[in-house]
Amino acid sequence: MAFSLSLLLPIGLTTFLLAVDAAISVGLVSSMVAFLHHYGRGPFPVANPAGSYFLLAGEPANLVTDQGHTTNAAGGTALVLVAFGGMIALWLERRSRKKRDSSSPVFYLWALIVLLSWLLTLVALIYTFVETSKTGNQFIDLAVAEANPAPVKYPDNRWTPENWYSAVLDLPLVRDNNRRIISGNLTIMRAWRWNLIPLFILGFVLLALVALEVLRVRRKDTQRIEVVNPVLPSK
Ligand SMILES: *[C@@H]1O[C@H](CO)[C@@H](O)[C@H](O)[C@H]1NC(C)=O
Repeated sequence: MAFSLSLLLPIGLTTFLLAVDAAISVGLVSSMVAFLHHYGRGPFPVANPAGSYFLLAGEPANLVTDQGHTTNAAGGTALVLVAFGGMIALWLERRSRKKRDSSSPVFYLWALIVLLSWLLTLVALIYTFVETSKTGNQFIDLAVAEANPAPVKYPDNRWTPENWYSAVLDLPLVRDNNRRIISGNLTIMRAWRWNLIPLFILGFVLLALVALEVLRVRRKDTQRIEVVNPVLPSK
């Protein structure tokens, strides 16, 4: 009989790493939301060919934000249900194994949550990269922008915040200060999008470890039943 080791320790370590990454994800998205609600609204003065300037509203008419909400939900689920829930589930599991030499039902419930949370991260990852690529490769038409000055919002196209502010930076902004702050916040938007990849990988590693542990425990239980009730050779 192969000696098989409990995976609770690597599961705990991976849960910790996932918690750190999920907290980073939630922090970055919240920071973008704060920017969108205040400074990001503008308006920003933009130089025009006539040598003067016009005001551009900070947000376009069609801003796509559901990928941000989905990412926030994925990060929040990983942080609260998987990480904090996991601390409780892993503690109960250790106690149950010590006391009764069996698994706690909470551990199985948590295993299901780990699966659902990873699926939500997968959805957020696909959704965000698809929206970003669908609304990428477009630019703000200076003539259209000047014909629709603030408080009117730029009417054309759909934009993710990341693609919009990246296009805003391609305009001749009058104030360097606007450029500096938009550019800093654009980095935050790119950061949370790319951070979905480590979040997805950590979620997958955790799911794999939890699945292996569930299988290992079940196999051990089966072996124990066979020892207690040996199959008698028929005579
Ligand atoms: C993001 O924008 C805020 C204003 O909303 C600004 O205070 C902050 O410095 C900007 N962040 C970066 C990294 O530039």
